[in-house]
Amino acid sequence: MSGVVIVGTQWGDEGKGKLVDLFTEEADCVVRYAGGPNAGHTLVVGSERIVVRLVPSGILRPKVRCILGQGMVVDATTLLSEIDELTKRGHECLSRLVLSDAAHLILPYHTLVDGLREARPGGIGTTKRGVGPCYEDKVARRGVRLGLLRHPGRLREVAGSALEAWAPTIVALGGKVPLLDEVLLQVQAVAGRLVPLLADTGREVHRALAQKQRVLFEGAQGTLLDIDHGTYPFVTSSSAAAGGACIGSGVGPRAIDRVVGLVKAYCTRVGEGPFPTELHEETGQRLRDIGREYGSVTGRPRRCGWLDLPALRYAARINGLDAFALTKLDVLTGFEKIGVCVAYKTENGVTDEWPSEGVENVKPVIEMFEGWSETLGHARSVEDLPAAARRYVEFIEAQVGASALVISVGERRDETIARGPLFEVRTT
Ligand code: IMP
Repeated sequence: MSGVVIVGTQWGDEGKGKLVDLFTEEADCVVRYAGGPNAGHTLVVGSERIVVRLVPSGILRPKVRCILGQGMVVDATTLLSEIDELTKRGHECLSRLVLSDAAHLILPYHTLVDGLREARPGGIGTTKRGVGPCYEDKVARRGVRLGLLRHPGRLREVAGSALEAWAPTIVALGGKVPLLDEVLLQVQAVAGRLVPLLADTGREVHRALAQKQRVLFEGAQGTLLDIDHGTYPFVTSSSAAAGGACIGSGVGPRAIDRVVGLVKAYCTRVGEGPFPTELHEETGQRLRDIGREYGSVTGRPRRCGWLDLPALRYAARINGLDAFALTKLDVLTGFEKIGVCVAYKTENGVTDEWPSEGVENVKPVIEMFEGWSETLGHARSVEDLPAAARRYVEFIEAQVGASALVISVGERRDETIARGPLFEVRTT
């Protein structure tokens, strides 16, 4: 088996950093397939901790090749400062980092529009990194693909027509339209460093798979933020779900041998949008404090709530989960009772399915589980967990219809219950 997708099953921030440390150990190549600098991944390898937004998570492993696929949108300044920071810390990355020449470039007018929209009432709480407007240009077929950095004349034409298209919006939002020359000066300042990293990454991924290398397709955000399958319109602008791995990296579905979902033991969300199990009172604050649920890039407090099983089963279906990694189980230690949403009350009655019209108007049906008071950090097998925690894990497994491949019981690398390798021959 050589192609594995790791995908968030909730609204992002499922605690990927630590898991990726474990998973990239087994990988030869890590491909990010969607999103851009809206993501913030805290990478922890040994005692080292670094937050990256664009560079794929394998970068701290010296032998792992890291690819930014064509489904991504790239902010050149952010990318270059990540490369510089990594290099400064002794992680040579230029020889291992490849950028798709078909990925799109985030330009200053994208960030400007994103910020102006968010400054007005009715914003959805984006990360204001220009991600949405950049994907809008992509779909409008006036986006600047990274490959255009090799052709400044053509780049001027494309960026010029995009800027012309955005100008009325910028004015209507009360902003100042930037001059094309200013925009192009900024692009020129970074082009020389980016061009040598460009490649036909679809072909690179194919080659890696053909050579039986272990390729990890790294999702960003989460399934419920996916442009098609998430809580639209409160979503990001890309295909965050596992299917996006094919589109965003240029491989067919047969390249994917296994899909592993990241499941946090409770739910969080940043930004606006429906969140059926959200806890507004003390319990939510307690989850936020214990789980340190603040954005890794923006520092925004995350909204917190109980695990939502209809949403999780939906994510299992959308992604075709083979297994999942349960994260932050230790955060639930000390809660006398732990809530789990098992169904939704809708105006048409109770359902345990994700309603196709969305979850704006549902009320969660919460089942309370006995909690546990023991710390979990010492557990290395499910048998080491207190009985109540074990029941919680087994209940989730039964409800999702997949088993927990990994259970994280603490921040440290060794505080992990690992139940098998990531790259494994499928038996069914
Ligand atoms: P955008 O992706 O910046 O356009 O933001 C759209 C929505 O997705 C907002 O609710 C953001 O808070 C959310 N979002 C985007 N990226 C992430 C992420 O990496 N983690 C969690 N939420 C995210």
